[in-house]
Amino acid sequence: MTQENRGRRFLLLLGVLSLGGGLGWTGAQPSPPSPLTIPARPVTSTPADTLRDPIFPGLGQAGLDVRHYDVALTVERPGTPELRGAVTLTLASTRALPEVRLDFLGPAVTAVRWNGRAAPFRVDAAAQKLVVTPPAPLLPGHEAHLSVEYRGRPGVILDPGFGAAPVELGWQSVPAAGGRAGANFALSEPHGTHTFLPCNDHPSDKATFTTRITVPQGYVAAASGVEGPVGEGNGTRTFVFTQAEPIPTYVLGLFVDRFERVTAPPVPVGVNGAPVARRDYFPVSTPPNVRAVYTRTGEALRVLSDWFGPYPFGAYGTAVVTPRLPALETATLSTIPVTSGERTSVHELAHQWFGNAVSPATWADVWLNEGFATYSELIWTEAQGEDGGAVVTRWYDTLVRAGTRPLVATREEQLFDRSAYQRGALALQALRVAVGDGAFRAFLRAYTARFSGGTVSTAEFLAFARAQTGERGEAALRLWVESPGLPPLPVVARASVSPRL
Ligand code: TRP
Ligand code: ZN
Repeated sequence: MTQENRGRRFLLLLGVLSLGGGLGWTGAQPSPPSPLTIPARPVTSTPADTLRDPIFPGLGQAGLDVRHYDVALTVERPGTPELRGAVTLTLASTRALPEVRLDFLGPAVTAVRWNGRAAPFRVDAAAQKLVVTPPAPLLPGHEAHLSVEYRGRPGVILDPGFGAAPVELGWQSVPAAGGRAGANFALSEPHGTHTFLPCNDHPSDKATFTTRITVPQGYVAAASGVEGPVGEGNGTRTFVFTQAEPIPTYVLGLFVDRFERVTAPPVPVGVNGAPVARRDYFPVSTPPNVRAVYTRTGEALRVLSDWFGPYPFGAYGTAVVTPRLPALETATLSTIPVTSGERTSVHELAHQWFGNAVSPATWADVWLNEGFATYSELIWTEAQGEDGGAVVTRWYDTLVRAGTRPLVATREEQLFDRSAYQRGALALQALRVAVGDGAFRAFLRAYTARFSGGTVSTAEFLAFARAQTGERGEAALRLWVESPGLPPLPVVARASVSPRL
């Protein structure tokens, strides 16, 4: 971590705090404390031991391993930011932890329990942490259940580095307007999930999720994972989802709207040909031309799994949202704005392998997500019998115009820039040109098989490429990963571009 990064982080935090103060998230929630609230102890413990991410050094807790999140959210008035949450985390650790420091910038905490008994806690707003002191340190080889209840307004984290306009990360509220019902959804990459859910908010600590969302009658809730039976309450409905494979916190998808849930036939592209359930969620007013984009999702699943290996989850689909925001690859259920088209839908699908199943070890490695997802757009183009060469040339021209950098990010603004997307994709094209289509496809499938369910750093990626494709493949990649300038456009000898093996 450089001095410059520390300075930038501090300025960002100041910005967030002053913004948050204005919006009233700093303890101004009206909800009364529950009888279970226990005042925090004085601060006596050692300094924060975070995961030391090179881009976000404050995130996470070293040694903490969240295995599972059991989340219950209640949205009483969809379209408003008001939220009630109860989460139980199944915790393990790789070292003795005298306190658990979860990332949290969320609503007011009303109760904390450790293995079912009230436990002392404090909220460190400056550090964006909820600090809980267990009755005894959490030791390696032991599991504990930590429950947190909270209600009020989620925090606000601005993402300054994404695209043209800054994005407010985390819990989104879409007010009712012009006959449209109010809606809510999560949009969190890279560090927005802890604005509404206490968590170890770093991709290196992946976990499974059970999510229950309670909404008023007439609304439909959706979340990452496979849907269970709907519960009927007194004027409410509770939807439940099981995300059985571990995912990073930033891709937890959560949605509330007057959705129509549209199912399609399962696609047999899971592990060992297992059927992948297909469902999409459209706000009731979604026009037919938007819905038409998603009639090709099954075909895209077949095309991409042919190159990337088995689809890694039990279900796939899209939830369409109405604000003009960037699309996000929320696990098993991508978040796609109503204005997006087929290319975006293929890109978000590809992230289910690259990002969600194979996750970046740190935020510096996020080009591994965006490079592969962008590359999938070329695979899709070729599968339509269209000219892939034009796509590659466009990527290259973009970088000639915009400038470029080595692929491992060193600053937050770089995470989702053109180098992450287009240069990342060109690195993969350089590998394909160097080793040929057959070896390239074998590499992709071996890579997802090796790292699915886990994380990978750029160094591990290069080492794996060397082991699979030899020095030639590694050298082609390394040039694109490391060189300060723009390497020459990788050119294919015409005979080796056959789109099929
Ligand atoms: N991963 C997204 C994509 O390319 C882009 C993205 C990054 C994003 N941060 C975001 C989208 C925050 C919405 C909100 O598919
Ligand atoms: Zn992407």
